[in-house]
Amino acid sequence: FYIGVDLGTSAVKLLLMDQDGKIEKIVSKEYPLSFPNPGWSEQNPGDWYEQSIAGLKELLESVDKSQVAGISFGGQMHGLVILDENDEVIRPAILWNDGRTTKETDYLNQVIGKEKLSEYTANIAFAGFTAPKILWVKENEPENFKRIQKIMLPKDYLAYKLSGSFCCDYSDASGMLLLDVKNKRWSQEMIDICGISLEQLPKLYESYEVVGEIKPDLAAELGLAGHVKVIAGAGDNAAAAVGTGTVGDGMCNISLGTSGTIFIASDTFGVDENNALHSFAHANGGYHLMGVMLSAASCNKWWMEEILKSKDFAGEQAEIGELGENNVYFLPYLMGERSPHNDPGARAAFVGMTMDSTRADMYQAVLEGVAFGIRDSFEVAKKLGIHIERSKIAGGGAKSPLWKKIMANVLGIKIDMIASEEGPALGGAILAAVGCGEYSSVEEATDKMIQVVDTVEPDPELVEKYNAKYQEFVKIYPALRDR
Ligand code: XUL
Repeated sequence: FYIGVDLGTSAVKLLLMDQDGKIEKIVSKEYPLSFPNPGWSEQNPGDWYEQSIAGLKELLESVDKSQVAGISFGGQMHGLVILDENDEVIRPAILWNDGRTTKETDYLNQVIGKEKLSEYTANIAFAGFTAPKILWVKENEPENFKRIQKIMLPKDYLAYKLSGSFCCDYSDASGMLLLDVKNKRWSQEMIDICGISLEQLPKLYESYEVVGEIKPDLAAELGLAGHVKVIAGAGDNAAAAVGTGTVGDGMCNISLGTSGTIFIASDTFGVDENNALHSFAHANGGYHLMGVMLSAASCNKWWMEEILKSKDFAGEQAEIGELGENNVYFLPYLMGERSPHNDPGARAAFVGMTMDSTRADMYQAVLEGVAFGIRDSFEVAKKLGIHIERSKIAGGGAKSPLWKKIMANVLGIKIDMIASEEGPALGGAILAAVGCGEYSSVEEATDKMIQVVDTVEPDPELVEKYNAKYQEFVKIYPALRDR
């Protein structure tokens, strides 16, 4: 068996897979997310570890534990985890959707300059990236900054606790703004700009490489045999791409998790001249371009749970009428926005209601607003000459047939579904299988394990209607930005 761990923002998901790719069991454990100030977003790494161990115990109940060969991860990206000389967590992790670093991001983009950043790392600074957070701690919490011995990303904290290996993979490291993505090595220039040293950064691996073994005392506690391999794993988007079989040149995956992403795999390194899309390493040894919305399934959750106080997602979606006729628009910027606006101060809005607008129209606008937000990045990819006809889909939002239909028609592409939406966890388990030698490459593993089971086809008439609506949608953010 192989275990894939998706260390997400709302929960950790653990998945047990056999050597042929059959999913045996999935366990999910939630933990809190805190917003100590407007636009801030933090989590306690101790919660990740505790819930992961509790989840592992549950996952392994009534399973032949001696058959577990390896474990790997997909993890929420960019989060800053800092440890002191005693390996104690210095402060809560500052997450990917945290917007506190406006000043540091401006400094990096304007004083160091976007051209230099792009030359050093293949990317520019976004508020959620790790380097601006390091600068924030340096400026605002100098005592904490002085204590830093190790800088790591969320999933790497788990790998460290499980194996003792201080490691990171290239896909996740890409989002730190500290990695020279093209040449796959830490950027000395960025290290100097952040006032840190190479020793504080983890050793780099490909996502499918073995970084160590589960520590003997922990293996005993979990009832595992000795020598369970720990494999580096990937950022959750690269892991989700593996989990949907998005590893060939030009293949696309859309993820509707807490964040919303459009991920375009590439065999070769590439960067768009405005750096509107992230240029990161992929988990198969290649590269990818990616557009990232900060709130996707979280808009759905907010509307349902916070506003309607309901958990009946399917029932509420059943009230939504014909698509393409809605005059209500929703800007999905509940946590600011990354791609393409790079604006932590962006805010959500409903626009266009009339006396006959219903709550179903507003819900429809929420689902459509997220699809339009994904289209913003899709348009950037199109301008780069990338031609996308179809995409896979993963994440909690991919469970909704209605949302998939909206997505296919707003983008005007085919949406291919595989048997499971558990992209990052499944991708983690596949990376573990490759690392343990079950398959010779990530491509070989996904070719054998992942099949498309259904496709949502776009309807040309609806695509036309959504094209017209998208032209209206793009006018709203600039009109509200400087309010
Ligand atoms: C990617 C990003 C998000 C997180 C979500 O750049 O910030 O997709 O990885 O977990």
